[in-house]
Amino acid sequence: MIFRNKHFKIALLSSLVGILFIFACKYEYVKEDPVCFERDVQPIIISNCTQSGCHNTNDRQSGRDYSTYDGIMRDVKAGNYQSSSLYNIIFSPIGSPSMPPKPYSSLSTDQVRIIASWIEEGATNDTCSVSTCDTTGVMSYAARVKPILQNNCNGCHGGTAQSGAGIILSDYNNVKTSVDNGTLLGSIEQLGGYSAMPKGGNKMSSCNIAVIRKWIAAGAPNN
Ligand code: HEC
Repeated sequence: MIFRNKHFKIALLSSLVGILFIFACKYEYVKEDPVCFERDVQPIIISNCTQSGCHNTNDRQSGRDYSTYDGIMRDVKAGNYQSSSLYNIIFSPIGSPSMPPKPYSSLSTDQVRIIASWIEEGATNDTCSVSTCDTTGVMSYAARVKPILQNNCNGCHGGTAQSGAGIILSDYNNVKTSVDNGTLLGSIEQLGGYSAMPKGGNKMSSCNIAVIRKWIAAGAPNN
């Protein structure tokens, strides 16, 4: 009886651990919407890994050029994020070497999760062109504009990063300065006379540009 009891306890314990494990994975890595390379993953990688001196076509730091899908796939094992060196280097336990190196900021938990989900879903070179672009109503800085800048620009233009020529786009006041001198819109629309942004990456989706254009047209409020 005691023996059976013990077994039961072990069984119960291991199924609890199993359930916890499943929940932990679910919470961490499964996104409800499928993740797409061009829309979700590439902007994060361009903004955080391909800045001057790093993994771009010219500098090829450590032999890596992350400005293309093929270059990124060198460090990806499709379908298995845990054995992908790309994932392991962006999600390293504290104290072990990790990327991006200081003084650049680490990727946010959300950005790591997006990359892990994409790898787990097969790491395909897909676009997911936005079928609906919601530009009705008032464009909010916090809800609409800031996340676009965070994913596409702040690897270079974040507060601590050194690779954005001193231009900071991670807080409202600094963003407003670039709005007021016309460079923000000129650079993302890639007009003549402005440096085309995101540097080294594809032009942003017409939806992202439309959101920012509408917010600027309304006076670029801190809303
Ligand atoms: C890979 C790094 C990198 C990324 C990503 C990047 N930038 Fe830049 N940005 C730079 C550098 C470097 C400069 C300085 C000019 C140059 O070298 O072209 C610059 C310049 C600018 C300028 C000044 C342009 C001018 O003509 O005076 C603006 C505005 C700007 N970036 C906005 C953005 C926005 C908005 C994004 C995201 C959509 C972005 N950048 C993404 C590196 C980057």
